[in-house]
Amino acid sequence: MKRILTGLKPTGDLTLGNYIGAIKQMIKMQDEYESYIFVADLHALTVPQKSEELKNRIRNFIAMYIACGIDPNKNVIYLQSDIEYIPCISWILECSTYYGEASRMIQFKEKSKENANFSVGLLTYPVLMASDILCVDTDYVPVGIDQKQHVELARDIAIRFNKKFGDTFKIPEPLISAAGTKIKDLKDPTKKMSKSEENPVGVISLFDDKEVIRKKIMSATTDSEMRVIFDEENKPGISNLINIVVSLTGKTVKDIETMFVGKNYGEFKKYVADIVVEKVGEIQEKYNKLINSKELDEILDKGAKKVRELALSKYAEMREKVGVVR
Ligand code: TYM
Repeated sequence: MKRILTGLKPTGDLTLGNYIGAIKQMIKMQDEYESYIFVADLHALTVPQKSEELKNRIRNFIAMYIACGIDPNKNVIYLQSDIEYIPCISWILECSTYYGEASRMIQFKEKSKENANFSVGLLTYPVLMASDILCVDTDYVPVGIDQKQHVELARDIAIRFNKKFGDTFKIPEPLISAAGTKIKDLKDPTKKMSKSEENPVGVISLFDDKEVIRKKIMSATTDSEMRVIFDEENKPGISNLINIVVSLTGKTVKDIETMFVGKNYGEFKKYVADIVVEKVGEIQEKYNKLINSKELDEILDKGAKKVRELALSKYAEMREKVGVVR
């Protein structure tokens, strides 16, 4: 069975965008692949965090994954920081990565512009990500398009290391979810719905209560026409709402367009809100049962044990190959 691995960074609350763009893809694939999914908590430290908030968010993330349908019996679920060999692997890989390569990453360029006092971690972030990927010998890495460049860097680093030190890493491939599943901000549908967004009116958090979700959808930006038609270029707001419905119901774009011929945007938004409220409500019900359970810790312990073994074995092999052994 082929292996897949993906991670989410616990900055901000998990959003409907993460659910549709990343988590749902993993749920679809969990029967066909040996699946690894983790919280990239060390990656969260690349930007300032409040420690108590971060701690809560890490636990919330794991409970939310499972509430969304990530099955602990079909996935290895773990915290990145529980695998102490990952930063060690990352150091060796950093020494096989060129400064020029790391500084060319689009995310680094954008984030380093936001704050003149950015950390070195922001630069080495993709190498840590390469360590996550390479330490488990994954075949595929399902991510959104924004992370593709980082997976490509992981490939380049692995190929270079293998060439210099002999076969050590499996070369991973990015699996980019199909176009149409990239969920946009409700207020500004030209940019992605992001959990790090400071102004959350356009972002549906999986933790929002029903009335808040309803309000956000009812005030989503649309256009001055009155036709519910999928046209991402000219009608990004309506198209985004259609994408949300299509992703959550399995209906087609055509179905939705036909259902709303001659109806106004208010009616369409109410329909979208009902669907999202129902889905998020179901997820929250499961989440509430899990969040304080012992089961959650048992799942994380089991995941950490498994990945620690893989990472230690990879690290030992790398130490031997580069010569940092007694
Ligand atoms: P992060 O936490 O920014 O995003 C997690 C995943 O969700 C996807 N995504 C979206 N997809 C569709 N619509 C959206 N609005 C949307 N927002 C986010 C992202 O593409 C991503 O797949 N660096 C990674 C975490 C990470 C990782 C890894 C991932 C660390 N190590 C190893 C894969 C493998 C990140 O910050 O993702």
